[in-house]
Amino acid sequence: MEKTYKILTYGCQMNVHESEKIAGLLEREGYTCTENDFADVVVLNTCCVRESAETRILGNLGILKKTKEQHPEMKIIVCGCMTQADGAAERLQKRCPFLYAILGTHNLDKIPEILSENERHTHIEVSQTYAVKEDIPIARTSGINAWVNIMYGCNNFCTYCIVPYVRGRERSREKKRVIADVKALVEQGYKQITLLGQNVNSYGHDLIDKNSDFASLLRDLSEIDGKFRIKFMTSHPKDIQRETILALSSGEKLSHFLHVPAQAGSDRILKLMNRGYTAREYLNKVDMIRTIIPDAGLSGDIMVGFPTETEEDFADTLRLVQNARYDNLYTFIYSRRNGTPAAAMEGQVPISDKKHRIRELIATQAIVAEKQAAQAVGKQFEILCSEYRDGKLIGETACGKAVVFDGKADLVGKFFPVRIIKHKNSKLYGVIQ
Ligand code: 5AD
Ligand code: SF4
Repeated sequence: MEKTYKILTYGCQMNVHESEKIAGLLEREGYTCTENDFADVVVLNTCCVRESAETRILGNLGILKKTKEQHPEMKIIVCGCMTQADGAAERLQKRCPFLYAILGTHNLDKIPEILSENERHTHIEVSQTYAVKEDIPIARTSGINAWVNIMYGCNNFCTYCIVPYVRGRERSREKKRVIADVKALVEQGYKQITLLGQNVNSYGHDLIDKNSDFASLLRDLSEIDGKFRIKFMTSHPKDIQRETILALSSGEKLSHFLHVPAQAGSDRILKLMNRGYTAREYLNKVDMIRTIIPDAGLSGDIMVGFPTETEEDFADTLRLVQNARYDNLYTFIYSRRNGTPAAAMEGQVPISDKKHRIRELIATQAIVAEKQAAQAVGKQFEILCSEYRDGKLIGETACGKAVVFDGKADLVGKFFPVRIIKHKNSKLYGVIQ
């Protein structure tokens, strides 16, 4: 009988792509994907950046426990960030003894091997070494977009963030491997390639070949034959180099969209966060980007309620948001993560303050985003059409603006000009030219 699998993914794009690797490994073993409640193998690819993700995962494990009572043969595997924190795997096993396996962020490739064993106890494998692993099969699920890791891990140790502890230090993939991957994906027909790294601007620092920095990677990638677009994320503001922005402005296949998290607008809070820049320095980087690439699209991450954040600090954040003129902003309430320096700081902010600040932040950004959208009306852009949904086409400009327009489903995956005719709040509507 056909063996089935199901993957539940939590967290960032890095995890979405890692789940494609888990799917690739399972499909190689003869499993097929199912949407049913029951599957022979259920994998939870977890996130622990904020407490809310962990709560959702534990809630889902409660539901899966019930399904397993009806189907005892179901194998439930928990992997990814949540398992990697100190003592987390053991705590999880105690709480959920019905788990088949618990695997760390660097042990996903063990899935086929452990599935062939018939152990009765939970299989735990959480390694603390993080070598770059190549040649894992990938079952891609993102339509015309393909994700490509260019680096793993992070060296920045922002004081609120658990990522460096669960994903290890920065390791870059060799440039020639990244180029070979992108070439192959373009040949297979993918139209948008998104390069992934916690901090793409420090790509190559750890490689022996000193010509492998991010700017040179972008230049080399834009010389690959074919009609396609290269995107990337995430850019740490302190590491954005003029050279990279110049490479972006001249490479015709390179997206003009940058995701540049600021996190806060108060210099005192930025210092406590260990971000390595002041609000002025951040805005200077944004100015540099817009001077070199006037049509650049910008998104960011902002966190409210970091320990000791006052109303004055928060007012600085609102000012930064207005000055940065984000097209799109991801907003977060600070979440205390055990083992990070910020978790031990005095002056944790009450939840009621965090909630009113996030509401105000969202309202401020809504006005900024609407103004940004209004500026696009009347302009014409080359669109890459990515999706046909509810009778409408959805596409993206090179500067990262999403546009909705009428047309036939067979336009998905094609590039063509669209003129923006109106906006509703921050949403853009266009017509094919
Ligand atoms: N609490 C809330 N948000 C966080 N982020 C990272 N760590 C935390 C935390 N402890 C946010 C940051 C980061 C994004 C991916 O998640 O804004 O840029
Ligand atoms: Fe976390 Fe900071 Fe690294 Fe981003 S740069 S992953 S916020 S430590």
